[in-house]
Amino acid sequence: MCGIVGAVARRNVVPILLNGLLRLEYRGYDSAGLVVVRDGKLTRVRSIGRVAELEQKSANTHGELGIAHTRWATHGMPSERNAHPHLSCDLIAVVHNGIIENYEALRADLNARGYEFTSDTDTEVIAHLIHSHYAQNSLLVATQMALAQLVGAYAIGVVAADNPHQLIAARKGSPLLLGVGESEHFVASDMSALLQVTKNVVYLEEGDVVEVNLADYRIFDVQGKAVKRAVHVSELNNDSVELGEYQHYMQKEIHEQPQALADTLESVCNSRSMVPGIFGAEANTVFPQVESILILACGTSHHAGMVARYWLEELAGIQCTVEIASEYRYRTSVANPKTLVVTISQSGETADTLAALNHAKQTGHEFTLAICNVPESAIVRQSKLRLMTRAGPEIGVASTKAFTTQLAALFLLTLVLAKLRGRLSSEREQQFLHELRHLPSAVKKVLALEPQIAELSKYFADKHHALFLGRGLHYPIALEGALKLKEISYIHAEAYPAGELKHGPLALVDKDMPVVSVAPNDALLEKLKSNLQEVRARGGELYVFADANTHIKEAEGIHILQMPEHAGYLSPILHTIPLQLLAYYVALQKGTDVDKPRNLAKSVTVE
Ligand code: M6R
Repeated sequence: MCGIVGAVARRNVVPILLNGLLRLEYRGYDSAGLVVVRDGKLTRVRSIGRVAELEQKSANTHGELGIAHTRWATHGMPSERNAHPHLSCDLIAVVHNGIIENYEALRADLNARGYEFTSDTDTEVIAHLIHSHYAQNSLLVATQMALAQLVGAYAIGVVAADNPHQLIAARKGSPLLLGVGESEHFVASDMSALLQVTKNVVYLEEGDVVEVNLADYRIFDVQGKAVKRAVHVSELNNDSVELGEYQHYMQKEIHEQPQALADTLESVCNSRSMVPGIFGAEANTVFPQVESILILACGTSHHAGMVARYWLEELAGIQCTVEIASEYRYRTSVANPKTLVVTISQSGETADTLAALNHAKQTGHEFTLAICNVPESAIVRQSKLRLMTRAGPEIGVASTKAFTTQLAALFLLTLVLAKLRGRLSSEREQQFLHELRHLPSAVKKVLALEPQIAELSKYFADKHHALFLGRGLHYPIALEGALKLKEISYIHAEAYPAGELKHGPLALVDKDMPVVSVAPNDALLEKLKSNLQEVRARGGELYVFADANTHIKEAEGIHILQMPEHAGYLSPILHTIPLQLLAYYVALQKGTDVDKPRNLAKSVTVE
């Protein structure tokens, strides 16, 4: 979703702003813009489409103070006039990520006071509000006064034409970081935009406002009190955000899964037993009290939660509910204080998941655990316990390595709870540890099937619909396969538990509806085989992703992808890989923008 970069330095900041925007492209956007302050004037450049176009248009733009933005349209069509930065009276410029909920009332009031609006955005009110306070106040105070009038979520950057070495930034509900350099400072939506200039970073907290100058910076908390925040040294490096030998980030990230899983499981696989402490020191006191689990997440992370439900109920014997965060946050629910609320999020900034976490806390849940890929994210900071997935930065909008590492983390949660509840013998624990250690190499073997999957993908490229089937643990994997395909190839795909087929979707099956079946060699295999017969009998073309010893034979209308092993409880992780690759290769054939599919954003920081 929208990306922000800002810089104040004793050098031309335009290349820094543009390079930063390029690094934020993965978040998803439809237009881009920047403004620099020079000789008491604001120079603004905006364009719809890619940052590369903005780069061309800003070839002759220079300045030592500037803010820049990639916009993902919420209020108003993608167009140059709606692109940020927004100006007020050629004096104030603002970039904004988030949604201002009371903008209509503010706009009417500002209109009545003579302010003219040139865009359809909610952001423009922020520029005019700051302007309205600036005549009698410093830029910092004018911004604080304006923010006090806003209802909603924001990360903003602000500059003024007559203030050549200062930028103000603030966050509430949307992420923003401060980059600390030597006599130069930066702000950005995430660290990948700042690696080009510094690794020293301050994670701004909810409600923080920062006054950023050349030599120093001052942070004020939500009450306006000056505060000190720790400077962290980012562990990210440029290589982890470079494409390297791959054609797309999604392909790179699919192939990074063996390493990402090994990194996520490192602490456990190097030890001889499973302990609650991997979820944080307080887990030792929290976990023994836990009576049930409530998992809250969105999209792919929600699918990971759905798999975990099978594991938790079967192996740990603990009742588990999984809810879509955007539904839970608005539902009146009954809290059990002995329930562990588990949020799952790659970014840790998904607005609905964060709001669901806060809603759970307000209704009386104290035990909260975040499974997340970004250590300093809001969801992690606001949870009592955490387990970090160590997938590294995920740039492709379609989530891949984040999903499989979430599954690995959730499996660890299952085993720790199973052990605490006396349901895991030490032999079984050792067996699971062995299987976890083997997992990265099992994933590598599945990745080796890439050429076969690329071949299979040719059957899908001209189709408009596809059906995905799975049963039990693998039903959520069918959902994930369908989500991947629709997200990046724009083919309409639906997933069903295979047993539901004859209750409706079978009516859709004909030769033009490819049916993908996730077919592991587990207790439900025979039932699944009957479901596949039902499809074949209606002329449906089957694509069966089978694993060791499933004994389903290739025949007319039945295409088999034979995976080398069956991984038992960890099978959902292995079965995810070919579905990711299938979506990727179908998207390649269709020539879509694989890493930045239309209409989607990587971090969904607005509701
Ligand atoms: O960062 P999160 O895991 O909270 O994101 C949740 C969803 O927005 C995300 O998984 C989305 O569904 C992906 N684009 C799917 O590939």
